[in-house]
Amino acid sequence: MAYSVSKLTDYSAAALERASAELFSALGHEAAAVQSEADWKIFRDRWMARKNGILPQINDIWLKGAPKGAKREVGQHVNLIKERVEQAVAGAKVRYQIPTVPIAHAGSEISEVEFQRGALEKAGFVDITLPGVRRPIGAEHPVIKTMHEMVSVFQKLGYSVADGPVIETDYYNFEALNFPPNHPARDTQDTLFIAGQQGKPQRERLLLRTHTSPVQIRTMETMRPPIRIVIPGTVHRNDPPDASHSPMFHQIEGLAVDTNITFGDLKGTLDHAMKEFFGSSVKTSFRPSFFPFTEPSAEMFVSCFICGGSGKRGSDTCRPCKQTGWIEILGCGMVDPNVFEFVKDNGYDPKKVSGFAFGMGADRIALLKYGVDDIQLFFNGDVRFLEQWA
Ligand code: PHE
Repeated sequence: MAYSVSKLTDYSAAALERASAELFSALGHEAAAVQSEADWKIFRDRWMARKNGILPQINDIWLKGAPKGAKREVGQHVNLIKERVEQAVAGAKVRYQIPTVPIAHAGSEISEVEFQRGALEKAGFVDITLPGVRRPIGAEHPVIKTMHEMVSVFQKLGYSVADGPVIETDYYNFEALNFPPNHPARDTQDTLFIAGQQGKPQRERLLLRTHTSPVQIRTMETMRPPIRIVIPGTVHRNDPPDASHSPMFHQIEGLAVDTNITFGDLKGTLDHAMKEFFGSSVKTSFRPSFFPFTEPSAEMFVSCFICGGSGKRGSDTCRPCKQTGWIEILGCGMVDPNVFEFVKDNGYDPKKVSGFAFGMGADRIALLKYGVDDIQLFFNGDVRFLEQWA
């Protein structure tokens, strides 16, 4: 038979205990029977409705009807009942929302606490007794790390960091760097152009910068000589991706302009930087080359830091240097006077100043330094690969 509140005739401690126990037992059974929202509403109203709910009845019949001397004791029981009823109503709601969690867990291996915790979590409650969720600390990407290390080598020599836009105009990427319009040297850059620019004069057309060298011009336009800058950044070329090419890659550029800068300064600076970066035993070698914006131009090699310059690894051949004992690291040269002509008005009179510039591929250096054999690994975002630098 359904539970109903009856009048108390005996207000002794034992009688109160008995009456409460009878109520709790009914409360437990009815809570366990709740299986849907409709059930739960009926259950809630039966126990808690302001009008005629069991709780208000307990208050009226038990507490208000109690003789003066028993009021305190009855009040304590009523408070406890109120608390238990509220818990049971809230708990029943959680349970019917999680049909997969068995209501009867007696005899199962999980404790009441664990059972409640799991149920609460599934219902979207926060369990404040659990330890907080710790975000894994990220690690510097190997290419970025390489760039930072190289940049700091030059910062120690008094260079400051400059940057410029990745979407560049033809003027800065080519013209002001002494690539005349239609000059064949432009073809070597495999340029990616922004579409729909035909209506504009050539020098204003937008492209993805193919090298960091346009920042040389941008910086000389705003800073008067003497200057010493390093420029780390991304560049793009229309190269199909393979183990050693990526249409997006990274360069670190350098530029020093002052009075009386010589090719000796270029060699000394770069030789020092390579020893700082790769270790004091590496040697450097300069071979003639061509860039429109430097004259003379050179390619710089470092002695292979993998085989020590021998071209051999034990009885095997050294792959990174292709057995030559030397690895090509960068392009460099003395700033061509024609380049200074474009920024002459900002103090770069080619008769008064001279300078050197260099540019290296950061990805290639990272590949060599960390012994990675495919540049794609740097960019396809596989955390298992990147975690090696954590
Ligand atoms: N910008 C050249 C390149 O990308 C490298 C370079 C920079 C050469 C500065 C000379 C001076 O190939």
